[in-house]
Amino acid sequence: MTDRNLPESPCLVIDLDRVRANYRALQAALPAARIRFAVKASPLPSIIRLLNDEGAEFDVASVGEIELCLAQGVDPAVMCYGNPIKKSAHIAAAYAAGVRRFAFDTEEDVERIAQHAPGSEVECRFLASAPASQTPFGAKFGCAPGEAVHLLVRARDLGLRIVGPYFHVGSQQLDPIAWQIGIEQAAAIAEALAVKDISVKAVNIGGGLPISYADPAPGVSELGAVIADAAARLLPEHTEIVVEPGRALVGNSGVIHAEVVNVRQAPDGRRWVYLDIGRYNGMAETENEYIAYRFQTDRDSDPRDEAVVAGPTCDGDDVLYQRTRVLLPTTLRAGDPIRILETGAYTASYSSVSFNGFPPLTVHVIGAERE
Ligand SMILES: Cc1ncc(COP(=O)(O)O)c(C=O)c1O
Repeated sequence: MTDRNLPESPCLVIDLDRVRANYRALQAALPAARIRFAVKASPLPSIIRLLNDEGAEFDVASVGEIELCLAQGVDPAVMCYGNPIKKSAHIAAAYAAGVRRFAFDTEEDVERIAQHAPGSEVECRFLASAPASQTPFGAKFGCAPGEAVHLLVRARDLGLRIVGPYFHVGSQQLDPIAWQIGIEQAAAIAEALAVKDISVKAVNIGGGLPISYADPAPGVSELGAVIADAAARLLPEHTEIVVEPGRALVGNSGVIHAEVVNVRQAPDGRRWVYLDIGRYNGMAETENEYIAYRFQTDRDSDPRDEAVVAGPTCDGDDVLYQRTRVLLPTTLRAGDPIRILETGAYTASYSSVSFNGFPPLTVHVIGAERE
């Protein structure tokens, strides 16, 4: 798609062929693993249908995501309600829709699952001692590894079917050792459960698989080798691995086509470049400047210099980068097109409905949904 026939700026263009290639590359890197797409990264119907055709499972975080997947023909048997934060009514709705797999990290949650989704399969999320990722969860999710043993025993006693331990090393995790640490801790949980006559069927190693933005990230083959080695060395024989990527399947499939609205020399002595896209219409992951996206303009052969990059709203926090070193052409002018690369994950779905009157980011899909 050329800039000329694109709809009004800003818009996100998603290339389905890249999504398919990413899925197959991950499959090749982890041939024994079950791949569960984290829908939240890009809840686009065409992506869900494509991954469903490829044989993926789906990590759903809400009733809304369950309904979205059902509408695309996904069998609820391959969905897992992976969000540990959920109301009883949501568990009951998921169960009524046919979902039979749930993740949890507290005793209250597992009791609610037993009551509203009796006999379901469960994974217990623990907080792995992994190094911090680029967009860390902190301590928001996951019990202590020792508590996971107690909670899974409790789940068994409540009549639930035990799948095993589950961890997520934080999104955009750049250190492959993080998964090795998580698998070591999952292995210790599996060993403690064996003593209680519970055998672990699968370990869910979560998402977090990184992609290259302004800084390069390890690729799936490097990660796959670390994960496969740790799993083979540490986990009981026949333990399955479930991997739950969002970003790694869709991140590099998207490009945001945006426009420069203004360029000025501000009283702080810095050049400020204002775009028609900001924190509230797609660039949520620039919060704390966690994700450093790459920019591309038609003037990239001109000299470049540092710039502060800001969004279009009246909010003082709507500044994408003021600490990250962003180099943009010194000739950049209002009205210039600007492309923001690798923006296929966690962009459109984060867009506010109309903060400051700016509409949510529109999405346009190219490439083939079916081969
Ligand atoms: C439960 C769960 N699984 C998987 C993912 C996907 O993570 P990523 O996009 O880093 O692969 C997330 C992301 O927030 C998540 O919350």
